[in-house]
This record gives sequence, structure tokens and C-alpha cells, in this order.
Amino acid sequence: MKKPAKKRVTNLDSFSPLENKTVLLGVSGGIAAYKACDLASMLRRAGADVHAVMTPNARQFITPLSLTTLTRNPTHCEQYLDSADWRPEHIDLAKKADVILIAPATADLIAKLATGICDDLLTTMVLASKAKVMIAPAMNPNMLNHPATQQNLAILQNRFRYEVIAPEVGEVACGDYGAGKMATIESIMAAVAARLLSHQTLVNKRVLVTAGGTREPIDPVRFIGNRSSGKMGFAIADAAYARGAEVTLISTVEVERAYPVIVVETAQEMQEAVELEFDTSDCLVMTAAVADFRPLSVSSQKIKKNESEDLLLELTKNPDIIDLLGRVKRKDQILCGFAAESEGLVTNAASKLKRKNLDMIIGNDISVPDIGFGSDDNAVVILTQEGTRESLPRMSKRAIADHIFDIISERFRLMEEENGATVGRD
Ligand code: C5P
Repeated sequence: MKKPAKKRVTNLDSFSPLENKTVLLGVSGGIAAYKACDLASMLRRAGADVHAVMTPNARQFITPLSLTTLTRNPTHCEQYLDSADWRPEHIDLAKKADVILIAPATADLIAKLATGICDDLLTTMVLASKAKVMIAPAMNPNMLNHPATQQNLAILQNRFRYEVIAPEVGEVACGDYGAGKMATIESIMAAVAARLLSHQTLVNKRVLVTAGGTREPIDPVRFIGNRSSGKMGFAIADAAYARGAEVTLISTVEVERAYPVIVVETAQEMQEAVELEFDTSDCLVMTAAVADFRPLSVSSQKIKKNESEDLLLELTKNPDIIDLLGRVKRKDQILCGFAAESEGLVTNAASKLKRKNLDMIIGNDISVPDIGFGSDDNAVVILTQEGTRESLPRMSKRAIADHIFDIISERFRLMEEENGATVGRD
């Protein structure tokens, strides 16, 4: 059977999308280092000013000369040089980089980044720079699945500065099969372009996002909760921040971010926090899974097992936060809700859109296995007040978030156009 042609990100010979962008290409010591040569060449041909930095172990696999030739810039390897200049050149380089791309990123390098160890030039430059760091892990599947590596990757993913370009499943160099193959050059290029060319469509906009699932206490130990991990909400908030918005995240899950995060627990606490911020917000995305009911009374002592087989909990309705705000929202505010449905996705989402007076609603089918709760991926349908409907197939929550902000940004643009305000913001 004929293999399908490989998809190229862009015709690099006639288009220089990364012009004026400085990319620091970090190469660590794994066999996938040979692919860094292709990557260096692609990045340069896409117009980027590429500077390669190699760890000592990377030099076991490829030579600095290969990268120097392909990037057309000197390759940096040594941390300690007798420099004629008091100010080491690589520190300036670390500061001027628009993005640091580490491909391949070995388990060792990922561990160093997670802990802040900087015992070579590359890790030192990462710490000295404030640029976004994109890492493309490449290693044996057992190394990738090792709890230490998984923990280190999770640490990096929770830091706003880092983006992990997920490795692929396949046969790795040592012959083992599984996840650990470095992402393709095409997908790394696409991720870099998305990161560097993400339009600043939300400058001067205040975006309020809720994330996670509320917990409604029953007694000092127990609560009524739900399966929401908060990942969709974090992706939404991160995407808005990347577009230049002033973001406030109200979350039931504690996360470290460059923007303010208000941590709440119950629906009532979330309502209070959202209502305080809503008036000064241009857009609210209610991603949180808010409990519809809470125990009518919370026991101050741990409820004991008693003689009876049953325990009756009396529940009372929680405020529907977005519904209340839908009634008072101004014309210049955008309200976006989520609808997690196990059946009748479009019908139910459409009726919520109308009933709650939302501008748009994102419906996701929670009966589909492997996506949604806790996963990094989702598949959704986006409905708008104007009656448009768009289905997005399975993709990363961040890609979905970007799509949502394409629509929200366009709404803002149209609103400003209607008001005769300055338009044409990039
Ligand atoms: O009606 P349903 O709970 O399915 O609606 C989901 C949307 O409403 C989500 O955006 C959710 O954040 C929001 N919601 C809310 N307050 C509630 C329940 C849901 O704002 N009490």
C-alpha cells in the first residue's frame, strides 16, 4: 500500500513565518539528537535566528559543527570559557530568545529542569532566561513511564513557562515499543509556530475563568465532589494569557501561574469570587463543574456509623452562577459556559445556551471513553447565540482553548466595530 505523503507545516522555501524570532535550540544527549539537525535546518529556513546549545552528552551523538553549519550561528557548548568580554555572550542570548526549544529532551534534562539544577550551559541558560521553554521528550518507554519522569514532566507542565510537546508511540531506537519517540519535526515546528505566532488578540481584555469541580462539605471529613480535574479551565486561562489578556483564574485546584489564581472550594465560595470579579471583566468562561446541590446542613462533627443501614442526606440547590450572571451581563461582556452531557449533547447544550442567556457554550460528551475528565484531550461542540455549531474532533485541551478564543476574539472585534471603536488589532 502506498504510504500517505508526509504533511509539511508550511512551504518554507517561499514563506518565513518565524522571521525576527530568536530560537534557542537546546540539544541533550539521546539518540534523537540526530533529528535536531533537521529541526535546526527547518527552523532556519522558516526565518528564525537559531542558536544551538548542546549538553556535553549530546556531543556523543552529533557534533557542534553540524548544528553550526545548519543554524549558520556558532553552537554553544561550554559553560566556563575564558571570555574577553566580562559579560558572557550566552547570557545575552538566553535573555533575547523568544523561545527555548529543547529537542530532544532526555529524562535527565527534564529532571534537572524540574528541580532547577543547572550544572551545564543549557540548564544554566534556561534558568537565566524568562523565555517560554518548549521541550520535546525522547527516551525509552520505560524511562518515560517511570514515576520520577512522569512526576518531573507534571511539575514542568504546571509551570506556566513550560510546554511539553508530547512524544509519540512507536518503536524507539533501542528496539522497544511504546511512548517515547520524539514528536515529529513537523509537529514540533507546528507547536513552535503556534507559540511564537499566537496573535495578541486579547490585549486590554480582562478574562475571568473558573476551573475544577466544587466540593460541598457533608461533615469535617467528607464532601460531595465530581471528577473535574481543572485541566480544561487551566488550558482556557493559559490560552487567554498567551493572547495578552489580563487573566484571573478562580479554581478549586491549586495551581502556580503567572496570573492571579483565587482558590475556592464550594459553589457558594465560587459564586462570591466570580461576582466580585465579573463587573470588571470583559469575558467570563465558566469551565468549572459546579455542584448543583449541597448538603442542607453541614455536620460539625464527623458523622458516625449508626444502627440504621441508611443515611439520608438532605440536599439544597446551589446558585447557578452563570445563570445569575446571564441575567445581569452587559452588552459588552461575553459569557461562555460549558455543558458536560452524557446524552443529547447538542440539544441539551443548545437549551442551556438559550436558558442561561450565554454568548456561547462548549458541549462535551462525557460518555466518550479516554477523553474529558482528567485527560489532556477533549472533543467538543461549540454553539453560539447566533446559531452556529462547530464540532472539534479529539485534540488537546489547549488547542480547543485556542479555538474558543479565536471565536471570542472575533466577537470582541465585531463588538468594537459596532461601537465604532478602533478596530484592526492583530
Ligand atoms: O446546567 P449545567 O450545570 O449543565 O450548566 C453548565 C454550565 O453552568 C457550566 O458553564 C458551569 O460552570 C455553569 N454552572 C454554574 N453554576 C452552577 C452549575 C453550573 O455556573 N451551579
